[in-house]
Amino acid sequence: MSFENKVALITGGASGIGKATAHTFAEKGVHVMIADIMEDAGFLLARELKAKGVKAGFVKVDVCQASEVENMVDITFNTFGRLDFCVNSAGIEGSRTRIDQYPEASFEQVMDVNVTGLWRCMKAQLPFLMKGQSGCIVNIASVAGLKGFPGHCAYAASKHAVIGLTKTAAMEFVRYNIRINAVCPGFTDTPMVEQVLQTDPAYMDKILKSIPMRRLANAREIADMVVYLCSAQATFITGQAFAVDGGITA
Ligand code: NAI
Repeated sequence: MSFENKVALITGGASGIGKATAHTFAEKGVHVMIADIMEDAGFLLARELKAKGVKAGFVKVDVCQASEVENMVDITFNTFGRLDFCVNSAGIEGSRTRIDQYPEASFEQVMDVNVTGLWRCMKAQLPFLMKGQSGCIVNIASVAGLKGFPGHCAYAASKHAVIGLTKTAAMEFVRYNIRINAVCPGFTDTPMVEQVLQTDPAYMDKILKSIPMRRLANAREIADMVVYLCSAQATFITGQAFAVDGGITA
């Protein structure tokens, strides 16, 4: 699948991994719709992408609201007239608390954004990809979807669930020429991790020591895998979860 004039929709696109993916797609000639709960950053990014010579837009969405998710996909299709790639990157980390003391409200919120939210997105995106008789979805899971993550039970449960959703959807939609994969980033230099760095440098030090490469990923290193999975080089790949993690899961 060549990239020229294709259209990508990126949830959580205003920041971090989603934003890096938007830039990487735009540099390959893909038109991009940014979808995020953060309005100012989303509009600003759309302007930056247009300066790269592609069409770009922003739509505000809270992935916890089904009607907003449906609207997000409708607006994308009506704006660009097609939809080829969907990257579901919207996600939150929740509390850092042991499982027996984990706050129920945080658990429910993490599940609603990371699991139910991502399912709502795929549910709305798939009919449009079927219309085009091809397409790719890349869901952003985590290494916490491949192994335990002490202190982050809700996050780890949610990311394991993202991989389950990805594999099931891949099997259900393979007959429609739609490929669906997950990327499992290790610790990546984005605002999500920056927050930990600022509030708890000792914990960040522990994290860095757990990474064989002894550094965080750059968001572009994750974006490169996402874009590869949508490319003509990846046409026989579906239902997989790829770690991009500096060796954490080796
Ligand atoms: P980020 O915080 O920079 O970006 C997340 C984006 O999702 C933000 O723009 C935020 O506004 C948006 N978002 C949050 N809740 C939303 C909602 N209800 N509706 C719509 N948008 C919403 O974080 P980052 O690091 O770019 O994370 C992106 C994805 O990568 C997440 O799913 C995260 O779990 C995953 N990930 C991140 C890792 C890291 O170390 N940064 C490691 C592994 C996975």
